[in-house]
Amino acid sequence: MSLAQQVDQDPVTVRAPAKVNLHLGVGAPRPDGYHPLATVYQAVGLYDDVSVYDADEWSVELVEPVDGVPLDGTNLAVRAGKALAEHHGVERAARILIAKGIPVAGGMAGGSADAAATLVALDRLWDLETTDDDLLAIAARLGSDVPFALVGGTATGLGRGEVVDAVPDRTELWWVVVLDDVGLSTPAVFQRYDELVPDAPAEPELPAPLLAALALGETEMLAEELHNDLWPAARDLLPDLLDVEGRLAAVGAEAVLLSGSGPTLLLLYTDADAARLAAGHVQELGFRCVVAPGPVAGAHVVTYG
Ligand code: C5P
Repeated sequence: MSLAQQVDQDPVTVRAPAKVNLHLGVGAPRPDGYHPLATVYQAVGLYDDVSVYDADEWSVELVEPVDGVPLDGTNLAVRAGKALAEHHGVERAARILIAKGIPVAGGMAGGSADAAATLVALDRLWDLETTDDDLLAIAARLGSDVPFALVGGTATGLGRGEVVDAVPDRTELWWVVVLDDVGLSTPAVFQRYDELVPDAPAEPELPAPLLAALALGETEMLAEELHNDLWPAARDLLPDLLDVEGRLAAVGAEAVLLSGSGPTLLLLYTDADAARLAAGHVQELGFRCVVAPGPVAGAHVVTYG
């Protein structure tokens, strides 16, 4: 395809959300090195928009440059596109353009969102009509969090996080997402967890009280049940985190939670105005933050030719 055709072609654009883990239970490492998880995901309203165009070769670009996102074949979105083409036995390639709204290396699964969005976008661009089960299976091979980015809403995650099941959630939450300028490497946090918790269970269990709180829409109970096993490991790798938490205590959130492997911190509110007010306070303290509602939908098409 010529460059002129590429420029003329209308892209398919898919929006995919960030995730938080309302509960992250981590077990002892499996023989393949991954950790068994019992987690409860919630999709929150911070999004990456991924546009795909037919092209002669695979490429990935960012609308605005962001440090820490690889722009070669190791980018998870390119790997997703190639996996989908291979699944269908089609020899096609695409240019992938990503507008990032999800913090990079913040424990919010931005790379996984891009991969999920790319799967949905190319499926539509190339009229592949991939079944949901096949999309979820391809997503699971790409990364532990990719299936959830397809499903969205609120869901449990088992296995290494890739076995997702939607759960009833009657809450309407507002998160103040407090960003750290320093990222944390997910493998490093899991490794430190192994050092700190040598007797982790083989099979962590899903949190029944938290699931009940979600189903009932009981936010006070939910606030008490939020939990992240990786939090001590993140604090150990990034001692400043404890200091940040101490300073954020003055903001008066309904709960504070580490997002995934961190270092992003989440302040919980059940009222949008209270969350916006708190965000102003967080900024006055010198931190960057954004406000995001949850739960929101998984990867979905927003524009197509
Ligand atoms: O699955 P994904 O590629 O997103 O995982 C990134 C890294 O995080 C893995 O290479 C592994 O080090 C760690 N991880 C883990 N156990 C999980 C999920 C991720 O150890 N369940």
